[in-house]
Parts: sequence; C-alpha cells; structure tokens
Amino acid sequence: MTLATEQHEKKEVLARRKAGFWERTEYDRAFRGSFGHYMTEVEARALDRCFGEQKNATLLDLGCGHGRFLRHFAPRAERLIGLDRSRRLLGVARKWMQDEPLPVPTELVWASATEIPLEAGSVDAITCVRVIQHIPDQDAALAEACRVLAPGGQFILVQYNWLSPHGTIRALKIPIKAALRALLRAMGREPTFDEPTGWTFWPSLRAQLEAAGLEVERVTGAWLFPLQYFRSRSSNDAWPVFRALAYAYERLADLPPFRYLGGYLVVRCRPRPS
Ligand SMILES: C[S@@+](CC[C@H](N)C(=O)[O-])C[C@H]1O[C@@H](n2cnc3c(N)ncnc32)[C@H](O)[C@@H]1O
Repeated sequence: MTLATEQHEKKEVLARRKAGFWERTEYDRAFRGSFGHYMTEVEARALDRCFGEQKNATLLDLGCGHGRFLRHFAPRAERLIGLDRSRRLLGVARKWMQDEPLPVPTELVWASATEIPLEAGSVDAITCVRVIQHIPDQDAALAEACRVLAPGGQFILVQYNWLSPHGTIRALKIPIKAALRALLRAMGREPTFDEPTGWTFWPSLRAQLEAAGLEVERVTGAWLFPLQYFRSRSSNDAWPVFRALAYAYERLADLPPFRYLGGYLVVRCRPRPS
C-alpha cells in the first residue's frame, strides 16, 4: 500500500467515525451475535408494551439503520417504510431483505428525519428507536414526524435517558473524554471517539413532544445496563446476573417511578387533535 493510499484510508476511517459510530461495520455486526439478539429482544418487548393495538396501513421506521426491527414490526402494518440517512446501513438492510424477504411490501428510503419525503398525514404509525439523540435539530425531526403522521396515528419513540445507571456512567465519562480529547489535540492527533449525544430526562422529553404537537399516552422503560459493559467476551453473551437484573426491571418497567429510570425511555404519543 502506498503512503498516499494509506493516508487516504486513514482519513476515510476518521470521517466515518466522526459521521457516527454506526458507520463502522462493527456496529451492525454486533447485533448479529447472541448479545446483540438479546438486546434487540429486550427493546422489542418494551416496544410491544408501548404499541397501541390498532393495525396500521403504513408504518414508518424513522432512522431504521440496518432494519433491525423491520421484521418485528411487519405484523403491525400492511406496508413498511424504513428511512435512514446512512447509505451504508440501508445497504445492509437491503441485502438481508433480499435474502429473507419480509411478509409485507417494504420500501427503504435514504433521507433525513428532518426532511421526510412523504405527504402530510400519510403514515399511521412511526417508530423511532435510538435515533433523535444523534440529530442536532431534534425539534425539527419531531415536527416532521408530527407532519407526516395521520390524525390519530401513533408515534413510538425510544430515547436515551440520563436519569438511569447507564446515563450516570455516560455523564461521568463526559469530562474524562473532554480531557482526553484536549490532550490528543495538544499532541497534534485527531480524537476518533464519539462526542456525547443528546440524551434526555423524562420532563424535558415530554415538554419537547408536547411542543411538537404530540400528546403522550404511555411511557415505559427498557433496561440494558450494565449489560453493555459486562458480557462474556468468549460467548458474546450477557452475564447471567445482569440478565437477571434486566429481567427484574422489566417486571417493574410500567410502574412509576421505574418507568422513568430505564436506560431508554419508550414513549407512545399521538398528534394533538386540532
Ligand atoms: C443507533 S442507530 C439506531 C438504528 C436503528 N433504529 C436501531 O435501533 O437499530 C442511529 C441511526 O440514526 C440514523 N440517523 C442519524 N441521524 C439521522 C437523520 N438526521 N435522519 C435519519 N436517520 C438518522 C443513523 O444513520 C443510524 O442508523
């Protein structure tokens, strides 16, 4: 490899890391292991607790990534749309959908959640799992979701919660990462680790949803901490004690105050009737 090619590759890797951790192939690969399946199952159960019963003509998965939940959502809709800003992840989704087609017509759309290329009032349900914390203008994305949602449609949002053990660890890491970043820059090197993202607390998320014209109907939590940090490297599986902790939380996740203390807040809302 020539020096110029090597430098070009380094620059590309840096650009991908800065664009978002999901641009690395390790991101979607991690969901293919047993730990990844387990995480998806915990989140899917929280989503199921939150969904309203109605069948939806069209369900839009906003920020669908590599389509981790599309198969899970398929029985809830006659037609699915997966929208994401990452061409790479949409490519991964397209590939597995070709190999194992979904039971309902599914369209993948490359676009931003802040400019959804759909008619106003054209979808009956929107899911948005771990996405808005990465969007600089979260309010614009919520307003867009509200615009494309049909009257009476449901919006199911999963958003990271500061007020949780996972959030506390994350908050403690902020000053440490800031110091490391400053040190690396002083040494003339560009840091490649992620910037802190826009997590939330329940009161501010509720205010944000209401300002976007949405009415909150239901809140629950999903708990994965500290599973992300403690898993067996050999089997890529969660340690049993932490699985048990996550399971115990699930039994309490619909009760106050526990519903506000999960690593993820899982919320169902609908557009406020005008
Ligand atoms: C942590 S991943 C979650 C993906 C998927 N919802 C899941 O749970 O597997 C964050 C996703 O948000 C997407 N994303 C970030 N900013 C976006 C934007 N402005 N519009 C649409 N998608 C966006 C990324 O491309 C990535 O797929």
